[in-house]
Amino acid sequence: PTGRLLDARSRPLHDLRISVTDRCNFRCVYCMPKEVFTKDYPYLPHASLLSFEEIRRLAALFLAHGTEKIRLTGGEPLLRKNLESLVAQLADLRTPSGRAPDLTLTTNASLLARKAKALADAGLTRVTVSLDALDDATFRRMNDADFPVSDVLRGIDAAADAGLGPVKVNMVVKRGVNDDQVAPMARYFRNSGHILRFIEYMDVGASNGWKMDEVVPSADVLARLHAEWPLESLEPHYSGEVAQRWRYADGGGEVGVISSVTQAFCGTCSRARLSTEGKLYLCLFAQRGHDLRALVRGGASDAELSTVIGQIWAGRNDNYSEVRTADTVREQKIEMSYIGG
Ligand code: GTP
Ligand code: 5AD
Ligand code: SF4
Ligand code: SF4
Repeated sequence: PTGRLLDARSRPLHDLRISVTDRCNFRCVYCMPKEVFTKDYPYLPHASLLSFEEIRRLAALFLAHGTEKIRLTGGEPLLRKNLESLVAQLADLRTPSGRAPDLTLTTNASLLARKAKALADAGLTRVTVSLDALDDATFRRMNDADFPVSDVLRGIDAAADAGLGPVKVNMVVKRGVNDDQVAPMARYFRNSGHILRFIEYMDVGASNGWKMDEVVPSADVLARLHAEWPLESLEPHYSGEVAQRWRYADGGGEVGVISSVTQAFCGTCSRARLSTEGKLYLCLFAQRGHDLRALVRGGASDAELSTVIGQIWAGRNDNYSEVRTADTVREQKIEMSYIGG
């Protein structure tokens, strides 16, 4: 392709998020509630998953369209067997200007201590770890699978030791459930070299029973932090960055907030999402995706696939978070564990 690919709102295709499994060993209450994701839940059969070779092929076509950043997600991506071999294949790709893609992974870190070194050796650039509380009882209640905080903290340290830092730590804040953990989390991660980000609880998927009054606005989180440790704002790294960046005025390092509910960032949203079974979604809240796997397995050439990807992106007009109100929450949305957050 020649020229810069833009969607119908002039947004480039900067980021590709690839879900490598729809399974997870956690049952976070805001993502895979236990009552819905039982052992009888219809998870995808193995043959439906894109193979590593299929993922590599599609990723290469996205890079040719201007994508610079690839993030592996799930479910829990480290549950996918041999993930480091996919990482190695993706790390070998190059953008048209000859650069390797920024290659990252969002994980719950339950298996990270064991895998950090192999992932770093395979060429992973960084990791983002989800952690919703420092208090063990609160964390176990939130992941609903009885995982202790200590394993996650060990995973974060192992990742930093393996050179995958600075580690970003994501905390989804749900009012009445873990909002008392804002200050303890901030205190723990200040001066650690890791970057904590507070995320507004979103109405993704169709299972979490989201209500607006369970959202703690980022402005409140920032006010709480600022009262204890004065903050100064930082410039974004690039247009379309999800987190607003702040630093502790006393030199304690960086923190961030992700405010997709109270301050939507659709205007600069440059993210495409490839689901576990190879459907291309243009928005986290999309109701349907475009089946790239059918084309891949139907024998389409690289040129044909590339043209289709370009046409799909060019027609993209999504801006769900900008137009969502408490009354317009969509009913039939794909699950976060399937599309990868
Ligand atoms: P970095 O570039 O490393 O900062 O990563 P990221 O913030 O893009 O990715 P991450 O997987 O850490 O996502 C952080 C949070 O932002 C998660 O709750 C995501 O679901 C949410 N998020 C990421 N992209 C979007 C988006 O395009 N729209 C909305 N509404 N939320 C998003
Ligand atoms: N709202 C906000 N963030 C969520 N995540 C999962 N479900 C939700 C939700 N309903 C987060 C995870 C992970 C990231 C990819 O998305 O905690 O850090
Ligand atoms: Fe698993 Fe992440 Fe969803 Fe929690 S938020 S259930 S760790 S995929
Ligand atoms: Fe992008 Fe959709 Fe999120 Fe808006 S709601 S920022 S369009 S993924």
